[in-house]
Amino acid sequence: MSICNREGGRCAEMAMVCLTDFEEYAKEHLSKATWDYYAAGADECCTRDDNLLAYKRIRLRPRILRDVSVSDTRTTVQGTEISFPVGIAPTAFHCLAWHEGEVATARATEALNTCYITSTYSTCSVEEIAAAAPNGYRWFQLYVYRDRKLSEQIVHRVEGLGYKALVLTVDVPYTGKRRDDIRNQFKLPPHLKVKNFDGVFQQETAGAEEYGIPANTLDPSISWKDVYWLQSITRLPVIIKGILTKEDAELAVEHGVSGIIVSNHGGRQLDGGPASIDALSEIVDTVQGRIEVYLDGGIRTGSDVLKALALGAKCVFIGRPAVWGLAYKGEEGLREVLQILNDEFRLSMALSGCRNVAEINRNLIQFSKL
Ligand code: FNR
Repeated sequence: MSICNREGGRCAEMAMVCLTDFEEYAKEHLSKATWDYYAAGADECCTRDDNLLAYKRIRLRPRILRDVSVSDTRTTVQGTEISFPVGIAPTAFHCLAWHEGEVATARATEALNTCYITSTYSTCSVEEIAAAAPNGYRWFQLYVYRDRKLSEQIVHRVEGLGYKALVLTVDVPYTGKRRDDIRNQFKLPPHLKVKNFDGVFQQETAGAEEYGIPANTLDPSISWKDVYWLQSITRLPVIIKGILTKEDAELAVEHGVSGIIVSNHGGRQLDGGPASIDALSEIVDTVQGRIEVYLDGGIRTGSDVLKALALGAKCVFIGRPAVWGLAYKGEEGLREVLQILNDEFRLSMALSGCRNVAEINRNLIQFSKL
């Protein structure tokens, strides 16, 4: 650790040891409004906070004397190999955290060979992102707009750019009530744009805005038939993000989707819903391996990743920690975040007697404590 002259707080020269070090740095260095936007949960933030607390309630049953001298963290998602089972969840507005924005995210994830789900609300265009990391493995997160043509156009653009799956976010018929954003009247500053819709959103009504985007562009009437519609306009696999119950998991399978992301949007939508890790088991039990099940929400350590995999997730995704990494040092900062999680995951695997991800299973979980 090098010398840091700042009293209290964290300076750029200090060793970054765990993900919360990046959180602390981001909190100190981002503007209050930007920090509040990233940190926000809905209403009382019960679900946001429970996303983290729920991991702390889970205890592991480590196995010993299993020769863990060699360990392999690789896995596959949708048939593609990634270096370890942690990808980047879609989060909006990366240019608020670092001037290069999503271009830096794309480079970091390409370097670490993992999956980057690009948000619809990116501040770089999908073309810029693809050009910055031509060999990166990417999925595109989609909302359904009232104007279906808008959704259709972006689907065709990302198909052409080599994105490998569409992630349909289904938990935002309306935006959750995030109190600090309302207090701060948060919106995207004028020098930044939702680049994927440059010129399109700007032409829309000059009326009410949410986060600097015209309000009411998303269609709250979307239903399961829109999943069929989406499948009819694309050859890419469709993955649904935002499922929290076995009933909806069964419907997702019946509608022929290729994967589910168990997610409560980082606690930013319905407050009072379950922690995503607590919703995972019933979904895994219902799906019975027919499609892949992933998870996001509250992943902060390698042992969180291990617990999610033990409970049946094929891969997990990080939202806020990725943004903290960007806020620290752009591409390099996000690489550090991913590397720390990779190292911690590898260590947790070894300390619980797992040599590869195929050996991670429910026997690792102490269910009597849940
Ligand atoms: C999000 N999330 C999100 N999800 C999505 O489908 N599209 C989006 O544009 C965004 N934007 C977004 C912005 C910010 C600032 C946050 C914190 C989250 C939700 C995100 O994909 C993911 O579900 C959560 O962030 C996961 O929780 P953690 O890892 O942040 O605890």
